[in-house]
Amino acid sequence: LEIAVLDFGGQYVRNIERTLLEKGVSVEIVDYKVSTRLLLRRGVKGVILSGGPYSVYDENPPTCDPQLFRLGIPILGLCYGHQLIAHLHGGLVKKGRRGEYGFSELSLDNRNPLFHGLSSKEICWMSHGDVVETPPKGFKVIASTPESEVAAYTLENRIYGLQFHPEVSHTPNGHVILENFAFKICGCARFEWDIERFTFEAVEKVKKALGNARAVIAVSGGVDSSTAALLASKAIGRNLTAVHIDHGLMREGESVEVVSLLKKLGLNLVFVDASERFLSALEGVCESDKKRLIIGKLFIEEFEKVAREVGAEWLIQGTIAPDVIESTRGEARRTDRGHGGLIKIHHNVAGLPSGMKLKLMEPLSQLFKYQVRSLARKLGLPAHISERQPFPGPGLACRIAGPVTAEKVTLLRKVNVKVEEELERYKPSQYFAMLVNNLKAGESKLSASIAEKHLETHVKAYVLQDESVGVKGDSRVLGRIITLEPEDCGSWSSTSWINILRMQNEVTGSIAEVCRVVASLAWRDGGKYGVIARAVDTLDYMTAIPTRVDFARLSRLGESLLNHHEELGFFGFEVTTKPAATIELI
Ligand code: XMP
Repeated sequence: LEIAVLDFGGQYVRNIERTLLEKGVSVEIVDYKVSTRLLLRRGVKGVILSGGPYSVYDENPPTCDPQLFRLGIPILGLCYGHQLIAHLHGGLVKKGRRGEYGFSELSLDNRNPLFHGLSSKEICWMSHGDVVETPPKGFKVIASTPESEVAAYTLENRIYGLQFHPEVSHTPNGHVILENFAFKICGCARFEWDIERFTFEAVEKVKKALGNARAVIAVSGGVDSSTAALLASKAIGRNLTAVHIDHGLMREGESVEVVSLLKKLGLNLVFVDASERFLSALEGVCESDKKRLIIGKLFIEEFEKVAREVGAEWLIQGTIAPDVIESTRGEARRTDRGHGGLIKIHHNVAGLPSGMKLKLMEPLSQLFKYQVRSLARKLGLPAHISERQPFPGPGLACRIAGPVTAEKVTLLRKVNVKVEEELERYKPSQYFAMLVNNLKAGESKLSASIAEKHLETHVKAYVLQDESVGVKGDSRVLGRIITLEPEDCGSWSSTSWINILRMQNEVTGSIAEVCRVVASLAWRDGGKYGVIARAVDTLDYMTAIPTRVDFARLSRLGESLLNHHEELGFFGFEVTTKPAATIELI
């Protein structure tokens, strides 16, 4: 064990663990009362004190073994951890003048090794009431925000405290800070994931569990399911049947491509064209959850049908670690334990019906995306699969507001080709087009006035009638979409990116039912539908920030789409972070 994370009960503890695991650090979450002797015995090279819902002025606030600071090993305190270190060393912690929740701007000393590789100004994520007002004697302030003068301090580049949360991807470069701490400051060795060993063990595990039994594997053409299929075929050979279901919600030409790829890989393949069945089951269905549940149910029915035909008892899926880590919700769904935090019914986790007859096997459930990608390369999958952006199981249904119809799917497919082509230049983590109805529920004066302050031009703000899914305060919301039409469209390009982020933050923060903000780039009277382009940067897909794009280029694309498709009434780019929006529309 190289990095121990002392758990003070903060909501982002798993994010710390996960970010470090993804960087190849050996890390473990331990109780905050852990004895220093135990840490020493385990050869710990650095310690992180997590955040927590406490104040150092609470009666008996949780605290760590004071010996910890005498070991000479690096220590990093985050939020409550930062306040605790300051308090224990004689600094002054004060009840915050105003809490800082969400987005904040950090000015930092990037000569400090903890901040190597960062700019002198970065966006960070805050969630606190108390602040460190005066750092302990000998401690140097190395970053501040408008509300927290002591946003980061250090004692001799060994003990560090950060008021903000580098572990959430809303602090876009926070992962660099944690990486610097582990490798530059603690001197951890990068844990080389032994891909040979993993492959061998995973194949053996599948062989052992299945014996001579047959299995079907659902393959969408994405990296996870394709990799799982190849791995499983190594284990059970011809006893594996790969099933690709065209639910009519794939992107342009995708199913044909997937089928030809799977055949090339030598897999035993069954192709099911169930598009009519899916589309007719979705007819007239508006609610997001209903759509997802219908798709999940039909998927399983189709798999069960194929399983019966080939005599399979098992269903193999390409579920990966983030799905599992997030899936206290998924598990809760699977085992019928209620759980308030369900954000989305992911088709392969929470969407499985309770009466499913097939036995489930998920050989990649310990891996992170980057590991799945290396495994894919190792197994010989072509780069356009191993490096592919995620595409949700329910397909384009996640990107269509209101009822899914064949007309909408055809239109979205065409438009999506152009939007992906334009957005891929920015190398976002995920990028696509979404289709909404061009129906306005009314105007939002408050959104308009917030936008006018940042864009410095007159703005019309509309609330769309469609519902979409967002996430606010750890729970899922069905929210509204705001479109912003500035009088001077050039104001999108002339406004700094940070101001656009501030603006969306203020709109979703001030209006409870709003979870998405869209920069309108081209519009006209009439047209049944609107297209919203979305591109996000994210490490783990749990939080995300919109990709910085060239609005002038996107406006030209919008104009051309409106010229080519008379059904379209507007084109925009979504500028909302996750939270308050999710990545997909529903
Ligand atoms: P959200 O929209 O929840 O998406 O922010 C996070 C990531 O998950 C993908 N996604 C899905 N993937 N089945 C999947 O296999 C699903 O039902 C599903 N829903 C969302 C989404 O594309 C993004 O990468």
